[in-house]
Amino acid sequence: MNPISSAGSQDPEANAKKRRSAAAALRYVEPGSVLGVGTGSTVGHFIAVLAAHPGLVHSAVSSSEATTRALRSAGIEVLDLNEVTAIDVYIDGADETTRARHLIKGGGGALTREKILAAAAQRFVCIVDDGKLVSTLGAFPLPIEVIPMARELVARELVARGGRPVWRRECVTDNGNHILDVHGLSITDPCALECALNQIAGVVTVGLFAKRPADVLLVGTATGTETI
Ligand code: A5P
Repeated sequence: MNPISSAGSQDPEANAKKRRSAAAALRYVEPGSVLGVGTGSTVGHFIAVLAAHPGLVHSAVSSSEATTRALRSAGIEVLDLNEVTAIDVYIDGADETTRARHLIKGGGGALTREKILAAAAQRFVCIVDDGKLVSTLGAFPLPIEVIPMARELVARELVARGGRPVWRRECVTDNGNHILDVHGLSITDPCALECALNQIAGVVTVGLFAKRPADVLLVGTATGTETI
């Protein structure tokens, strides 16, 4: 998969906000719990927080090869989802979010495993900087993971629905699939659009997290963290 931006790679102000939201997530982590861990630079900050608390969690289930490497470097045992009966809390970032905690995810290409972990988790805590907070989703192009042979078929279906899909050419996902980034959508009914796009043959995962939104949103600001 395309390398994922790591902690520290963003502009300093956004980076500080991401760090604040990541630090605030620690209070949702019970000692001895099994964590789900997402992907991206904000999650990179969260893994750094975990590394500073050795032995706090029992283990983690990872949403990407990149996160698996980071978790192991931090001394955290990584388990396969099939080896655990439950994920206590799932911590992940997002590319856009509303105050209803509906999300666009997949900018880092890990949306399928992220959606699986969100579905498996008892609680989903999303960590973002305040630049991700919007009133209507869709300014960030919506990532959709597709089976490679169906890429053009799915793209035509998306055009018919008013979107402008762009093939993320440099990216092959951890699952061996392609990603279309869909521009030009104003997503006023995220649940309905998620359901409709999921019905297109060849779609693996839609990067809309509305049917299963975040339970808690931690928004890093210039001065602290807002909890939604
Ligand atoms: C990864 O596939 C995405 O869903 C990320 O959660 C999202 O791109 C957020 O990334 P940053 O924390 O780097 O902004």
